[in-house]
Amino acid sequence: MFAMRVLGIETSCDETGVAIFDSELGLLGHALHSQVAMHAEYGGVVPELASRDHVRKLLPLLQELNFSAETIDGVAYTAGPGLIGALLVGASIGRALAWAWGVPAVGVHHMEGHLLAPMLEVHRPEYPFVALLVSGGHTQLVRVDEVGQYLLLGESLDDAAGEAFDKTAKLLGLGYPGGPALARLAEHGDPGRFRFPRPMTNRPGLDFSFSGLKTFAINTLREHQDESGIHADIARAFQDAVIDTLIIKCRRALRETGLRDLVVAGGVSANCALRSRLGVVADEAGGKIWYPRPEFCTDNGAMIAYAGCQRLLAGERQSLAIEVMARWPLARNQGNDLKEDRSLR
Ligand code: KG4
Ligand code: ZN
Repeated sequence: MFAMRVLGIETSCDETGVAIFDSELGLLGHALHSQVAMHAEYGGVVPELASRDHVRKLLPLLQELNFSAETIDGVAYTAGPGLIGALLVGASIGRALAWAWGVPAVGVHHMEGHLLAPMLEVHRPEYPFVALLVSGGHTQLVRVDEVGQYLLLGESLDDAAGEAFDKTAKLLGLGYPGGPALARLAEHGDPGRFRFPRPMTNRPGLDFSFSGLKTFAINTLREHQDESGIHADIARAFQDAVIDTLIIKCRRALRETGLRDLVVAGGVSANCALRSRLGVVADEAGGKIWYPRPEFCTDNGAMIAYAGCQRLLAGERQSLAIEVMARWPLARNQGNDLKEDRSLR
């Protein structure tokens, strides 16, 4: 197999991420610009501001990588799912650079990036494994047999885990992004004061539903409004319910597939309480839990460079059309759903 050095570009939401991954030498560099401070003022991501900021930041960020164009063998960019305007910035610049440099380009599925992020490490899982993807837009359990072979085992029917964290944080008066702030507050909460439901755990299946927890939090807050410590206690009860639910479903997914290893990726996988409690699930299955390094749990360019490199090595090439998809099911992503053109280098 020949070596390949790939530039990766991530612009699906509120982080501009770039990286260079070399199939022989590993990750050569990465840089990230977070838009969190800009969106915080509005209490959430403003799509049009996100697109404009990617336009402003992407090229200067690429310069930070300090590479010479002749060394790049391919370009990978996030082609979906995500905010359509934001995606178009990365896709247009990525596609244009590949054309100018005379190298192939490939559009990467954002969730494929997340689920392959632990593969950036020297010590990494072997296929097959079960992946729990917990981000702001998705909660999914996926059977991963190899790169590109993904079987969706279950997913959230309504809010994603990260979205539920963010919405509950908002009603507790915490800023954006709420997930990490809620997690910090939960550390001070009394675990025994409230018990929130563990949605969809008492029936078979691997799907999730998190939107009811937010309603439960609203009602609890209304009933106990003036009591001391109420915010921290609600944060704790909410976080415990999400974590218990994720644990129950991961245990079930490992049992049903007969697999032993579990990869946990996406923004919520940075949650310390989740990490400390998930260990037992892999122990029971006789396997291991694998996480991306903390900075690659949330959105970044490295995971896109890695996933794109694997796809380019497998011979995938995008046509010159700049194509992105706001919605794009991962399980359909066998090979690649975007238009391919094998005549392009
Ligand atoms: O993967 P990601 O960076 O972006 C998406 O693809 O959505 O995930 C962002 C999500 C947000 O909902 C954020 O609140 C959540 O991950 N998150 C956390 C933590 N860190 C990030 N949720 C709970 N605890 C954390 N420590
Ligand atoms: Zn993400």
